[in-house]
Amino acid sequence: MSDILAVQLGSLRLANPIITASGTFGYGVEYADFMDVSRLGGISVKGISLEPRVGNPPPRVCETPGGMLNSIGLANIGYDAFVDRTMPVLRQMGATVIVNIYGTSHDEFAQLARRFDTVEGVAALEVNISCPNVKEGGIHFGVSGKSASGVTRAVREVTSLPVIVKLSPEALDLPDIGKAVQDAGADAISMINTFRGMSIDVETRKPRLGAVMGGLSGPAIRPLAVRMVYQVYQAVNIPIIGMGGIACLRDVLEFFLAGASAVQVGTANFTDPTIAVKIVDELEEYCVARGIRPADLVGKVEVGEAK
Ligand SMILES: Cc1cc2nc3c(=O)[nH]c(=O)nc-3n(C[C@H](O)[C@H](O)[C@H](O)COP(=O)(O)O)c2cc1C
Repeated sequence: MSDILAVQLGSLRLANPIITASGTFGYGVEYADFMDVSRLGGISVKGISLEPRVGNPPPRVCETPGGMLNSIGLANIGYDAFVDRTMPVLRQMGATVIVNIYGTSHDEFAQLARRFDTVEGVAALEVNISCPNVKEGGIHFGVSGKSASGVTRAVREVTSLPVIVKLSPEALDLPDIGKAVQDAGADAISMINTFRGMSIDVETRKPRLGAVMGGLSGPAIRPLAVRMVYQVYQAVNIPIIGMGGIACLRDVLEFFLAGASAVQVGTANFTDPTIAVKIVDELEEYCVARGIRPADLVGKVEVGEAK
């Protein structure tokens, strides 16, 4: 592959701007047998906490029109198992690893960031201040500028890795949160996490998720995500990694035009786990045919006087 797709996100350089989204592509190692994950711009691994977590009671996913609800609750193998067992495999596979981290306090986020700082093969940290499916931390850190910048600063102070802060669409003033995390030292913003939703089985009259509510993702949220990327792009100077319902090249281009410098593919992985690599190929073809780079499209939506 030529380097026409290479993107620079602050201090993070990726071979291409297509990343698989946290929680929708496992730890990446599960895909080793049937695709070359080193061809992805990056893999944002399932959110890692200091200790293993079992997550929420089942059922934890259900289909909804144009998307899905999930209430996984950040079930994960924890820091030690991830670093000892998973990272060596990811290194061997040549994957570009973005570690998505989750803590219940500023101190837990800082501890995780400090420990990952010296782990070989970690390209960047993605700080999840936006999970809607946990009682402590999660979305609560992402809905106020003060707490979002507090977590960002706690992580920034203890790591030299690029810091990506993942925003929640449920913040009232997302551009304001974007500015707050930028001022607190974030290298990039990723957005958006899921929206809290609920679905009820009208026969049993029971919620379709064990945790009652869950996070909505998939094409149903794409116009909301595009709108939010567009708004945050106008408020910040750091790069944005956009996501929300991306399922094909056209969707990726839409996010670039709105202001994203790179994107993540999430729910679409559940219908086709090779979709992100296919999009890399299609994007390369698109850029070569036009003699452009992804960066040439960023923020280039034409809205006349409004922009
Ligand atoms: C089953 C599932 C698990 C997820 N787990 C995480 C997670 O651990 N950390 C995180 O930051 N986001 C998590 N997300 C959110 C996605 O990374 C992404 O932000 C969201 O799904 C929107 O993108 P999409 O519509 O392309 O899926 C999860 C999403 C799904 C569907």
